[in-house]
Amino acid sequence: MKADHYDSFAESYSTENESGLFNAYYERPAMIDLAGDVDGHRVLDAGCGSGPLFAALRAKGAIVTGIDASPAMIKLARQRLGENADLHVADLSQPLPFPDAAFDDVVVSLVLHYLQDWRAPLTELRRVLKPGGRLLLSVNHPTVYKVFYPDADYFAVTQFVEEYTFNDGQSMELTYWHRPLHAMTDAFTEAGFRVWVISEPPFSPDTPRRLLEPQFADRTAFLCFIFFVLEAS
Ligand SMILES: C[S@@+](CC[C@H](N)C(=O)[O-])C[C@H]1O[C@@H](n2cnc3c(N)ncnc32)[C@H](O)[C@@H]1O
Repeated sequence: MKADHYDSFAESYSTENESGLFNAYYERPAMIDLAGDVDGHRVLDAGCGSGPLFAALRAKGAIVTGIDASPAMIKLARQRLGENADLHVADLSQPLPFPDAAFDDVVVSLVLHYLQDWRAPLTELRRVLKPGGRLLLSVNHPTVYKVFYPDADYFAVTQFVEEYTFNDGQSMELTYWHRPLHAMTDAFTEAGFRVWVISEPPFSPDTPRRLLEPQFADRTAFLCFIFFVLEAS
């Protein structure tokens, strides 16, 4: 997948992200909860999209910088966050335009599963974090791949393509990389991180019932994404 792939459906994605189950009532609240007190923290939101998490962390007192490989997503983020927001078009697979130890925390929501190689991005994220800083990230839960593709080899790092149609009717294809859990944690360790937390959080208690499939009615959680909090050692 080209790094700026989101350009072709930026508006549709951003609108759905605002109020949809997976972003608004599951991923984002869980990430904000994991981040905890960020007042005064210098935070990099890597793959910030149109900036909803940037906005939430800034509202909690963080000094936030956002990067995204899609110029269209950065344009939407600027509309949301204002002309003075610190936003840059940058590809996580390339060297980042920041000095060493520039950030206390890095958040990477739902981005790394688009990348085949995690070594270079994780090494760069480690570099821009101060020692002892935190990398908080979420990706597709690896077991979900096995549920949808029961004949697939869970243990192989594998590319797969999914089609999605937004509520406004626009369709698009996304190319993901499945990797097993141990490949994720090995990559973290090799890049100089220690795993602090592995989280499979509940969805938000204020999720509108209409957004939940009937089978979730009596439950508080479903398998979808997996979250990590890592320490830069
Ligand atoms: C699923 S969206 C998540 C957006 C945002 N983090 C959120 O949770 O609302 C994935 C984002 O990652 C960006 N992205 C994909 N590959 C990237 C890369 N190599 N470098 C930087 N951003 C990338 C896309 O442009 C898109 O905005």
